[in-house]
Amino acid sequence: MNRLIKPTIITALLLVGFGCNTTKSTSTNNYSTVVESPFNAKIDSLMSLMTLKEKIGQTVMYSGDLTVTGPVVSNNNQKYVKEGAVGAMLNVFSAKATRDLQKLAVEETRLGIPLLFGYDVIHGYKTIFPINLGLAASWDLEDIKKGSRIAAQEASAVGIHWTFAPMVDISRDPRWGRISESAGEDVYLASKIGKAYVQGFQGDDLSKHNTILACAKHFVGYGAAQAGRDYHTVNMGQDELWNVYFPPFKATVDAGVETFMTAFNELNGIPATGNKYIFRDVLRDEWGFKGFVVTDYFATNEMVVHGYAKDRKEAAKLAIEAGVDQDMMSNANHLYLEELVNEGQVDVELINDACRRVLLTKYKLGLFDDPYRYSDAQREKEVIYKPEFLEVARKSAAMASVLLKNDNKSLPLDKNQTIALIGPLAKDKENIIGNWAAEGDRKGKAISVHQGIQEYLSDSKIVFAKGCEIEGEDESGFSEAINAAKRADKVVMVLGEDYDMSGEAASRTNIKLPGSQTQLIKAIREAVPNKKIILVLMNGRPLDLSEEDILADAILEAWFPGTSGGYGVADVLFGAYNPSAKLPVTFPRNVGQVPIYYNMKRAGRPMNPNNPKEDYTSIYLDSPNSPLYPFGHGLSYTTYQYSDITLSSKTIGFSDTLSVSATITNTGDYDGHEIVQLYIHDKVGSLTRPVKELKGFKKVFIKKGESKTVNFDLTVEDLKYYTADMSFNVEPGEFQIAIKGSSDFDFKHKFTLE
Ligand code: GLC
Repeated sequence: MNRLIKPTIITALLLVGFGCNTTKSTSTNNYSTVVESPFNAKIDSLMSLMTLKEKIGQTVMYSGDLTVTGPVVSNNNQKYVKEGAVGAMLNVFSAKATRDLQKLAVEETRLGIPLLFGYDVIHGYKTIFPINLGLAASWDLEDIKKGSRIAAQEASAVGIHWTFAPMVDISRDPRWGRISESAGEDVYLASKIGKAYVQGFQGDDLSKHNTILACAKHFVGYGAAQAGRDYHTVNMGQDELWNVYFPPFKATVDAGVETFMTAFNELNGIPATGNKYIFRDVLRDEWGFKGFVVTDYFATNEMVVHGYAKDRKEAAKLAIEAGVDQDMMSNANHLYLEELVNEGQVDVELINDACRRVLLTKYKLGLFDDPYRYSDAQREKEVIYKPEFLEVARKSAAMASVLLKNDNKSLPLDKNQTIALIGPLAKDKENIIGNWAAEGDRKGKAISVHQGIQEYLSDSKIVFAKGCEIEGEDESGFSEAINAAKRADKVVMVLGEDYDMSGEAASRTNIKLPGSQTQLIKAIREAVPNKKIILVLMNGRPLDLSEEDILADAILEAWFPGTSGGYGVADVLFGAYNPSAKLPVTFPRNVGQVPIYYNMKRAGRPMNPNNPKEDYTSIYLDSPNSPLYPFGHGLSYTTYQYSDITLSSKTIGFSDTLSVSATITNTGDYDGHEIVQLYIHDKVGSLTRPVKELKGFKKVFIKKGESKTVNFDLTVEDLKYYTADMSFNVEPGEFQIAIKGSSDFDFKHKFTLE
């Protein structure tokens, strides 16, 4: 395949303008980036003893069979490990299983180089937290860090050195099942959350045995898969790439993330796993990333399927040249790299670089001092499911639950009232921990919403009826549910998706409640027209709730709330926790609006808010443009009043700081936490700018009747973006600014940068 000589990154961007990446030269040995480290002497001496085959071994990862997370499985793992042909394993966990395999690597290979053990600890290992989209809804960075710290403690107690998280793919498409693993649609929020995960997993000292490597994934653009169909093609210009999809990954690099994972998708015609532009020019040269890159599962071989490599041998060449250091499950490196080097097709320095990066990580973890330090059966017993971990998970579940609607103060529930508890997820203990739930228990450990409610109501005050299944059109359970509703003061319905309707390879074209669940609500509403219906949702994506919004008096979005989810949800339902969560992603009125997100561009003929049906404007004939529930939306049992903002100046210079503040008053009957959000709009730029951009947020506790003044300081650094010439810069001009409790507002204030 003929590849153009690679220009420098800026030249490349200027040459190609927007929209595509240049292919790159084959000369890549000027990328040898030996990282300054106290282990370099040890690594040098070890590598001086290693054969080429053994160095290639460090670039190979195979999967154990304790769980399956991809389309193929590997056999002969023990044989390959004993041959020194493997540097890492995934899907092997427990003190015993990791110790046994580590023993083969350390005691039966020529040089005894320990293995890395990786696993998808995405929102908990055994103690499962709300799915990541739910954790994002808490906007609580300290809680996210705390939860991932707990996940690291449990995972490291069972021999796991490395988690394939955080996933920081910007996600704007609810059809895409992996939106459930994301931090949602916003660059600023996802960047802050990505940093919190990295800090939680890796701690402040990787040599401690309760810290694990984090892995920023999936680099890059995976969330922009065409039509929301997983693994599908991704095309985007430099504006979107640099101003939307890159920043959360850059934030993880700045937070010290130790590894990256390639995305399955192609980006502008080049599969990520063979994309030098993103891994060498951007990740290493531009951002200075010093860790190592692993492919996603089997992704090297998939470059043949993409039609980018003629065969698996060329795929191995393309991946290592692109700066991808370790091959997860393709065995392309294992089978072909030695041949490629011997044939002079691949520069041995590339192998040395990759091997060195993997070895450095093992030294950082202390595995050469004690390869078994993470495989500790005693610690495994002591750490898993610690009561304080389950308590943190309970609070996380409460803080993740978004109160979307609460007409006539239907919530909180009254302990003296009888409720009808209806729905296929009301007693559920399997789906409640969501997808990518590692070794979370689906057979009984999780607390159902029913069990949570039992903490507040005696069984005599709970009338349960399942009503229907999650899927299927069967309505035979409706009559029992209607009878339950008639016997109760209020109706609580727990509806939603199956946990495997989101996550990997789980895209949906229809984002409504599945099965006959909506029909069930209609039947209940018709049977008890004057009773309050509270809808609790468990789902892995934004849903089209346009009908439910009319039928239910209150709607609580609980996502999949995790092992202690039932307790957390009940704490919200009964007011023990006043809901504070805000949507990290837009809920559309219908799938036809998708993709729809708050920080969109204005376009040249925007809808006229004063005349939404005005001709020759950007509108739909059959739907409003606005979403059902916007980014940043979330109600409380109390109400908050925002004052006008105060600016330290109407005009700032390039070296100034702008202080902006607002006073928020709790005007209701409950103390509560409010997530105060700062938005700007850059009115004119060398590239068009989003109509709104989140640039800060603070979660503040305000007692009822009290007020708090919240202040943000903005500098030009906060206003920078990748401009038309792709320099990270800020341009003089007018900016609008607001401090609000949601993205649903009109700007009233502005300042000028000059
Ligand atoms: C999967 C996922 C990735 C995960 C990896 C290992 O295919 O795409 O997110 O970390 O394989 O399980």
